[in-house]
Amino acid sequence: MKQLVVDILQNFTTELLEEHMIEEPVYSHLGDYALPCFSFAKKQKKSPNVIAQELANRIQDIHIEKVEAVNGYVNIFMKRTTFTNSVLTIIHEQEKLFGSSNLGAGGVVTIDMSSPNIAKPFSMGHLRSTVIGNSIALILEKNGYKPIKINHLGDWGTQFGKLLVAYRLWGDEKKVQEAPIQTLLALYIHFHEEAETDESLNDKGRAAFKSLEDGDHEALALWEWFRTESLNEFQKIYNLLGVTFDSYKGEAYYNDKMDPIVDDLQQKKLLIASDGALVVNVGENLPPCLIKKSDGATLYATRDITAAIHRKENYHFIKSLYVVGNEQSLHFAQLKAVLNKMGYEWSEAIQHIPFGLILKDGKKLSTRKGKIILLEEVLNEAIQLAEETIEEKNPLLVNKKEVAKEVGVGAIIFSDLKQHRKHDIEFDIKKMLQTEGETGPYIQYTYARACSVLRKVQNNDIFQVTEVNDYEWEVIKSLEKFPDIIQRAAIEYDPSLVAKYALDLSQVFNSFYGNVPIIKDPPQLPYRLAIVQSVITLLGESLRLLGMKAPIEM
Ligand code: ARG
Repeated sequence: MKQLVVDILQNFTTELLEEHMIEEPVYSHLGDYALPCFSFAKKQKKSPNVIAQELANRIQDIHIEKVEAVNGYVNIFMKRTTFTNSVLTIIHEQEKLFGSSNLGAGGVVTIDMSSPNIAKPFSMGHLRSTVIGNSIALILEKNGYKPIKINHLGDWGTQFGKLLVAYRLWGDEKKVQEAPIQTLLALYIHFHEEAETDESLNDKGRAAFKSLEDGDHEALALWEWFRTESLNEFQKIYNLLGVTFDSYKGEAYYNDKMDPIVDDLQQKKLLIASDGALVVNVGENLPPCLIKKSDGATLYATRDITAAIHRKENYHFIKSLYVVGNEQSLHFAQLKAVLNKMGYEWSEAIQHIPFGLILKDGKKLSTRKGKIILLEEVLNEAIQLAEETIEEKNPLLVNKKEVAKEVGVGAIIFSDLKQHRKHDIEFDIKKMLQTEGETGPYIQYTYARACSVLRKVQNNDIFQVTEVNDYEWEVIKSLEKFPDIIQRAAIEYDPSLVAKYALDLSQVFNSFYGNVPIIKDPPQLPYRLAIVQSVITLLGESLRLLGMKAPIEM
């Protein structure tokens, strides 16, 4: 609608208008849109007031009801009926496709996301990466991109040498099977405690990793087992979240693919010896990127450089995203710089999508020193709380368990996505589950409420818009914003725009629902049901794009 307003106004002024110049007044008596004329005053040598008045006198259009000049602003009131009719008609026709675009033109975007570390707990950071990455994938898909979700598992590195040593010394097969992550983590912690007094342990760890890299069968079999058991645990979380991946190629996958890359770096004369190690210098603003340790072992960065090249060759991406916490910014800056120095122009397509921490009582949640919070437990607690609420509010609901799962998990997803990802978020499970306020359950509840209206009345009459009251108008204006929001969310890789949109639409719908007789005013019934149906469509689509479920009753 804003663009339409710009196009209309442009016919009446020689000033070059742009969408961002148009404001949306908070108070509806000031119009649906307003154009401030202050910036034109100097050039036109007239007061903003006069400019606004002259403009207001000229403007005329079938979409516009009236125009007023107030204090240097041109306030524009849209013709509500015409506009409402177009908005409802188009959503009615396009249904779930409303708001789709072909921005991506089928281009592949790889999304490196989740990527937990084998034998370690799935952390809150991995949760954020999973949830944010999943929503970005859905939003990109809606805009005509082809997202590829990659779980770059942390399944390689010197820590696995240490783990092998620890297992051989103190491990118990049965315990690993029963509780893989806890047991392996405990072994790893124990290794470090022992290594403080027994220095030979670290050497043994290095040697064990070397044997792994060299393909020793016994070592590989153990490693494979740790990996499978860990992945089974992670899979439980992915099932709860409803997230799937296109690839589980983790760091280990690149073990035998790094040599040619290191050779290439050598040939391009980029490798520099530094204290026995090999590094690439990546400019004054970044520390050198470590490629090989003095003992010949490769590093996280070596594997990421190799993976990036492999992904480019396999997927021909137009964009390659890495949804990883803020704390790894330096690593991704180095990755990009090394690829650039290697002469890969596509290094420009690499983009780190950073996010903040999850805090509890203002402190970072720690997975170290036994103070671990297991994510699966957290998710189950949320589901439990949701179940209690349902039991209290709607004890007769049929599929209670399923709905509780959708609400509990949805609450956690929403609390993560509602703020811009760069912010730290406070983890307060009770707050997340409230049905009032800016929560996932509030939106799901609104959705279910809208669905219940359609269950109560059946009416297939064609709607006619004869009059649009203020409550209806607010809903229509919100509905109309959807396509624009979805595109911006794709361009900025920002699911919070969709989350905030869902809150906005829920609010205006609830006030419409509370103030306008939907069922008790027969002549307006088809029209109001069309509004309700449109809200269901767009709220449902918003929830889907956030990776949340939309129960029709709760
Ligand atoms: N496994 C890493 C961690 O837990 C995250 C990996 C992110 N992806 C990547 N390609 N580096 O910190």
